[in-house]
Formats: sequence, structure tokens, C-alpha cells
Amino acid sequence: MAAEIFAKVEQIITDIQAANPQTAEDIEQFRIKYLGSKNTLKPLMGEMRNIPNEQKRDFGQLVNRAKQVAESKFQELKNAADAAADDQAAASIDLTVPGEPMNLGARHPLAVMMNKIISIFEKIGFEIAEEREIEDDWHNFTAMNTPEDHPARDMQDTYYLQNSTEMLLRTHTSSVQARTMTTQKPPIRILAPGRVYRNETISARSHCQFHQVEGLYIDEGVSFADLKQTLLYFSQEMFGEKTQIRLRPSYFPFTEPSAEMDVSCFICDAKGCNICKYTGWVEILGCGMVDPQVLENCGIDSKKYTGFAFGMGIERQAMMLYDINDIRLLFENDVRFLQQFQSAL
Ligand code: PHE
Repeated sequence: MAAEIFAKVEQIITDIQAANPQTAEDIEQFRIKYLGSKNTLKPLMGEMRNIPNEQKRDFGQLVNRAKQVAESKFQELKNAADAAADDQAAASIDLTVPGEPMNLGARHPLAVMMNKIISIFEKIGFEIAEEREIEDDWHNFTAMNTPEDHPARDMQDTYYLQNSTEMLLRTHTSSVQARTMTTQKPPIRILAPGRVYRNETISARSHCQFHQVEGLYIDEGVSFADLKQTLLYFSQEMFGEKTQIRLRPSYFPFTEPSAEMDVSCFICDAKGCNICKYTGWVEILGCGMVDPQVLENCGIDSKKYTGFAFGMGIERQAMMLYDINDIRLLFENDVRFLQQFQSAL
């Protein structure tokens, strides 16, 4: 009696091992038969009571083995079926179909301008200095020789942080001059690109945020001629080798003497156009020799060192170069606008 029941289980194990279901449906049938809730092995446990006590253990182990064999057989079948399905999917891929075009992004026109300016100055040894946009009054104004009652400090122009008379959004990248001069010793030769903020009514021509690139060079014996030659080099690299520059006397609290620089109009080759308002010249930047007082404010010996500085706005140059008639386009990130710069670097 017991021997018969043992033989029955052995037979089931042999059947499981011999089973060779091919289709997904047959494999599912196999699963139901041996692993389902009403599987063939279940009633066998009920036979336990017909097994003599000394054989109960062996019997239990045999039934368990049958279960394990069924489980590993099923895994094997399933893996083989999955692999076959993958092969079939791979075989149906047409490797000769041409690739789909990749959608290329475009650099923002301001980034294009900035990169161009940066690479021109890097060639002559200027290092990039990036600094904070949230500044304190001292670095933005006081160190830069801008007295308490100077109109540039007017609440109208400067964004102060809430409830603060001390912390503000920098109004120019000249704050990086102060940051650098108080932490580095001459020779200093830096280029500071970045975003600045002024409380101005937003219109087609002006915005409350824009970008500047600041240059600063301090060493023994730096002269106005160095400034002029550096700016000429920059202008010709930027706008073409025939570009001419002119310096007009101007005023900034932190430079003495100060000047504004025009370049010969790169749109009309100085023949006269809308952009240069028929003067042949367009204004690009402010500059000058660093005021000795600014050097002293920042702990640099003004008897030993001299230097020059310049600062230029980026938006206006980009607008002229790319014929953009509304500054707001530069900050709206409308893809229809941005896509037009796909070919720019
Ligand atoms: N900071 C000045 C501005 O924002 C530009 C400038 C920089 C002028 C450096 C002279 C020297 O207009």
C-alpha cells in the first residue's frame, strides 16, 4: 500500500521532468496542474495517514521534492519562453530604417554673447570671477566710492531685500571688483560676467534684470594706454578687425578719469543706420582708471598700484547683433524665439 503511494509520487516527478509544453497556453496548463491551487500534488498529502509512521518523514520529503521539481521546471519553461519572445522582437527590428532626427537645443543668445566675450578676454590672460547676486551695500556702493547721497543708491533704482537697508540685489558687476580686491593681491586680472538688477519699468528697451561683463586689471604701472589697447583688441575680435573705437570723457564714481567707449557701427560699417542713429558709432561700455580711493577702500596700496576697469551690458549688444527689437524676448524663454539661435555657438 505505502509502496504504491510512493511509486505514484515518483511517477508524477518523472512526468514533470518529461513534460515539454511549448506554447504559452500549454505552459500555463502545466502551471495549473502542478502549482495551481488544485494541483495534482495536493491530494497526496492526504495519503499521509496510509503511510506507516517510520516512513512518514521520507514521504513528506518526496512530496516536497515533487513540488520543487515542478517549480524549477516551470521557471525554466518561463525563462525559455521569455527569451524566445525577446528574440522574436529583436528579429522584427528593421536595422536599415534611417534614424530619427534628434531635436537639437539652442544656446540662449545672451549665453552666446557672454561666451564670445569671455573667450576673447581669456586669450589675453583674464580669469573668470563669478560672484554673488545678493550683495551688501558696502561691496556694491561704499567700496566703489559711491557716497551715501549718490542717486544710484536711490530706493528707486536699487532692489533692497525686504526690511533691509544693507542687503540688495547688485546693481552692477562692479561689486565683483570690491570682492576681488579685498581677497586677492595684485596683479589682478579678472573678467566678471553676471546678472544685475535695477528697479526700472519694464519696456521694450529696458528691463529690471540684465547682464554685464566687468573687467579689472591691477598691477604696477597700468596706464590708460593699456586700457585703450585692451579695449581695441576686444572690439576688433568681437566686431571685426576693421572696427574702430573712440573714448568719450564720462563720469563714474569709481574711476578717474572715466570714459564711455563707442565702436564704429558693426551693422552698417559706420555708413549710418537705424542702430547707430546715423552717427556711425554705437556705445558699448563704461570704463576708466580705478580711482585710487577705491584701491585704498579695498586695502590695495594706491601709491604702488594702478589699474583699469570696464563694464559692458550684454543685452543691448545682443539686440543689435541679432536684430532683436524687444529686450523682454530675452527673458521670456519662448521656444519660437530661442529656436532661431540654433546655429549660434
Ligand atoms: N558699473 C558701471 C555701470 O554699471 C560700468 C563701469 C564699470 C564703468 C567699470 C567703469 C568701470 O554702468
